[in-house]
Amino acid sequence: MATLLITGGNRGIGLGLVKVYLENGWNVLATCRDPETASDLTALKKQYGNSLSIFGMDVNNQKQIDATVTSLDGTPIDLLINNAGAVEMAKYGSGAYEKINGVPIDDPDLRKYDYQEWEHVLRTNVLGPARVTGSFVENLKKSDHGIVVMMTSGLASVSNTWQAGRYAYRTSKAALNMLMRSAGEWLESFGITAVAISPGWTRTDMGGPNASNSIEQATVGVYQVITEISPKDAGKFLNFDGTTLPW
Ligand SMILES: NC(=O)c1ccc[n+]([C@@H]2O[C@H](COP(=O)([O-])OP(=O)(O)OC[C@H]3O[C@@H](n4cnc5c(N)ncnc54)[C@H](OP(=O)(O)O)[C@@H]3O)[C@@H](O)[C@H]2O)c1
Repeated sequence: MATLLITGGNRGIGLGLVKVYLENGWNVLATCRDPETASDLTALKKQYGNSLSIFGMDVNNQKQIDATVTSLDGTPIDLLINNAGAVEMAKYGSGAYEKINGVPIDDPDLRKYDYQEWEHVLRTNVLGPARVTGSFVENLKKSDHGIVVMMTSGLASVSNTWQAGRYAYRTSKAALNMLMRSAGEWLESFGITAVAISPGWTRTDMGGPNASNSIEQATVGVYQVITEISPKDAGKFLNFDGTTLPW
């Protein structure tokens, strides 16, 4: 039975992927910040029993990551999905100059930007996946064809971007893509294939209610894309529908 480890498995796209992988017979190691309140994961655990294990793990907390590595005791991991992610508090998907009651949703004025939040988003979306990938590399090396997925975004595309706002999210996901490319060569030396996949604009807490994809569309798409990945795909920036996204 193949094994998936996923971050942010308690809600949104992460929870959707946990369900899809369990339905397809995988062994799932779902990590989340607070297992006590992860009621959907607890319900899945009742349904799937030993096929699902739940771990408390903040991707910014090295001690919690190390504790998970220790409790896995060398279990091989075939697929790591770095799904956990953060965005500016304002919902993205709307233009920076769109207003609610006359107030810009995401004021693109660099003089007013929330730099503390920007740092938090970078830490979670870039350093988090780097820490997690590095920490579980020995488990991934034990798989015959280990795969690391960075859950990126179409908003990471530099060539597609000429739009103010969403600076924290855009810069974090562009940096995540670069992490995938540069650490990808290191991972390749161990036989591990790294890719970045965008789930598309999806109706979750992050994506908001107006997004184009349901969680099921996004997660079934991501599942199919991952199923077709082979070592020759290392370093690709893929969309949930299998197309390649522009850098
Ligand atoms: N939704 C979209 O339209 C869209 C589009 C493109 C890419 N994405 C990417 O897809 C991924 C999932 O997005 P989503 O829409 O499912 O987001 P979401 O509904 O906001 O869920 C975010 C998940 O990340 C977890 N998380 C946040 N910070 C964390 C941390 N420090 N440590 C561990 N877990 C943390 C959250 O856990 P808590 O419950 O503890 O907060 C939650 O499980 C993200 O990487 C996002 O950037 C989403």
